[in-house]
Amino acid sequence: MLGLVAALAVHPAAGADDPGELTAAEAMQAVMWGEEPIGGPFALTDHAGRTRTEADFRGKVVLVYFGFTWCPDICPTDLMAIAAALDELGADAEAVQPLFVTLDPQRDTGHLGEYVQAFHPRLIGLTGDEAAVRRTADAFKVYYRKVPGEGADDYTIDHTAFTYLYDQAGAYLGFFPPGTPPGRIVEVLRPLLAD
Ligand code: NI
Repeated sequence: MLGLVAALAVHPAAGADDPGELTAAEAMQAVMWGEEPIGGPFALTDHAGRTRTEADFRGKVVLVYFGFTWCPDICPTDLMAIAAALDELGADAEAVQPLFVTLDPQRDTGHLGEYVQAFHPRLIGLTGDEAAVRRTADAFKVYYRKVPGEGADDYTIDHTAFTYLYDQAGAYLGFFPPGTPPGRIVEVLRPLLAD
């Protein structure tokens, strides 16, 4: 719960009143209580320009994180934790596929590869047009919303920040809250990777 409070403090859920859009409260509730499926089919473009679907990652334990590259705090912290967990797993990390889905395709697509590779060479960045990103975020019960700043291209994005975990068959196992330390991620992943 501490992680959730921190996430809301950093990404304030400022009045998501757009009808039909998942509100922060609805997203939180869906994720916390597991009342609805988290995830599902998607078709996005990876940072190298290839089309990717969820089926491409079958056979691996998959971590899925949604955020944006200009995020000042939570996204980099969580991506660093995932990267550190992979390093700690050593050779076993080959059986783990971490994914970063941008919620800001407009600004992120051009430098997505550079961004994800700075965290870990095995991290794959995924993007798409606004509609594809919205569909994917909805399927994963991710709340996000553009918050305008001073200029036209000056905005930030409020978003929920969970790391979703899937097994080798693509079944949803649960989530890590924002701010989960690498040691905890390793502790959860290791038994999943044992033969
Ligand atoms: Ni963020």
